[in-house]
Amino acid sequence: MNVLLLGSGGREHALAWKLSQSPLTTQLYIAPGNPGTLLTGINLPIDISDFDAVKNSCLQYNIQMMIVGPEEPLVKGIIDYFEADPRLRHIHLIGPGSKGAQLEGSKDFAKAFMGRHHIPTARYKTFTGDEFEEAKAYLYEMQAPYVLKADGLAAGKGVLICDNISEACFELESLLIKKRFGNSCSKVIIEEFLQGRELSLFVVTDGSNWKLLPEAKDYKRIGDGDKGPNTGGMGAVSPVSFADEKLMQKVIDRIVVPTIEGLKQENIPYKGFIFIGLIEVQGEPFVIEYNVRLGDPETESVMPRITSDLMPVLLSLKDNTLHEQTLTFDPAYALTIVLVSAGYPGDYPKGIEIFGLDQAKGVVVFHAGTKMDKKSEAIFTAGGRVLCITGMGSDIESARRICYDNARSIDFLGKTYRSDIGLDLMK
Ligand code: AMP
Ligand code: GLY
Repeated sequence: MNVLLLGSGGREHALAWKLSQSPLTTQLYIAPGNPGTLLTGINLPIDISDFDAVKNSCLQYNIQMMIVGPEEPLVKGIIDYFEADPRLRHIHLIGPGSKGAQLEGSKDFAKAFMGRHHIPTARYKTFTGDEFEEAKAYLYEMQAPYVLKADGLAAGKGVLICDNISEACFELESLLIKKRFGNSCSKVIIEEFLQGRELSLFVVTDGSNWKLLPEAKDYKRIGDGDKGPNTGGMGAVSPVSFADEKLMQKVIDRIVVPTIEGLKQENIPYKGFIFIGLIEVQGEPFVIEYNVRLGDPETESVMPRITSDLMPVLLSLKDNTLHEQTLTFDPAYALTIVLVSAGYPGDYPKGIEIFGLDQAKGVVVFHAGTKMDKKSEAIFTAGGRVLCITGMGSDIESARRICYDNARSIDFLGKTYRSDIGLDLMK
């Protein structure tokens, strides 16, 4: 069948890489894709926030399945748009409608949902712009560090963690009063800070059955030792040693099952991926956030560990037969290092030539922010997150070795990466 995948990052390259290996994929299209996805299918240069353009491509290329990579089109209702058009009804859609996408599109909705279904999460309160004084008073009831969250999507910048009360009040004002993220912060969540180890969990569901993909750990800060500003992720590892059977059973019983049951009870149809951001506090799991798509860069570590075909799993979501499917995983460790541009996550240059890609050995290199010169076929940087290098090994040490060998030999001016991905999980 013909498949269309929406998105253009490392996550989409990893998904495209996996889907293109399936005998069930006749032709894979990626919109807009990147120079890496060109190796797996055909890139369609369309703006995926233009739903009419996506529709026209689906009709033109006889698409039978569409997978939505990033959250934005989901939150903006691309699934509802497709479902409302009789000419698109035959297309099998992977991703929730706008109702389900609220789990990521509104943190207040997600927190209230967890409350209704007794899913463990940090204590919180939500405030609107005319409740600034009440919000401030609530901050004074909490203890440092203070966690403030814009309700809506804010390109990964909507969570602020403040070390002291004056900084927290300043940030509260910038969100609630000055509307730093526009409508996305017309509501602000203030919540208790949870100290623990973070874990990314990926659930695939047809709305009643569910299966787990391999878990992963993301490294969010720019610098070694988790120092410096937050980024879109500097690396990932899968599996995660502390996600042992005991913890995972608690996660399933207290979080995964109540989430799927909660969606069902609330008549929210959901076919697609749920990314549950977890934190383990003294052996007990709590939900930090839901995302309604796969994670980046976790997908770049997770996909290479899936040894079975992913296409039948995705197809089974259509008629709610996910329970009849089997997913198998490679027990080996997958490690991903993200090479970023100098200056990222702040300002960075673009258009710098990348060398050594053709000499990559023993790893898969997923493209994120790259561009290809059509004439010379040379590859240039085109974003902050440039390349994701995934290597595998029987232990973290060997996966690290192969990744870092390649991270050194693939080169561009200003290349920046963390040197400690996976180290904390080796102890
Ligand atoms: P984001 O992916 O932008 O939503 O970033 C959220 C990050 O903020 C999480 O990965 C955590 O590291 C941190 N975070 C969010 N909420 C809390 C919390 N209640 N306690 C501790 N850390 C948090
Ligand atoms: N890795 C975190 C995210 O995809 O949001």
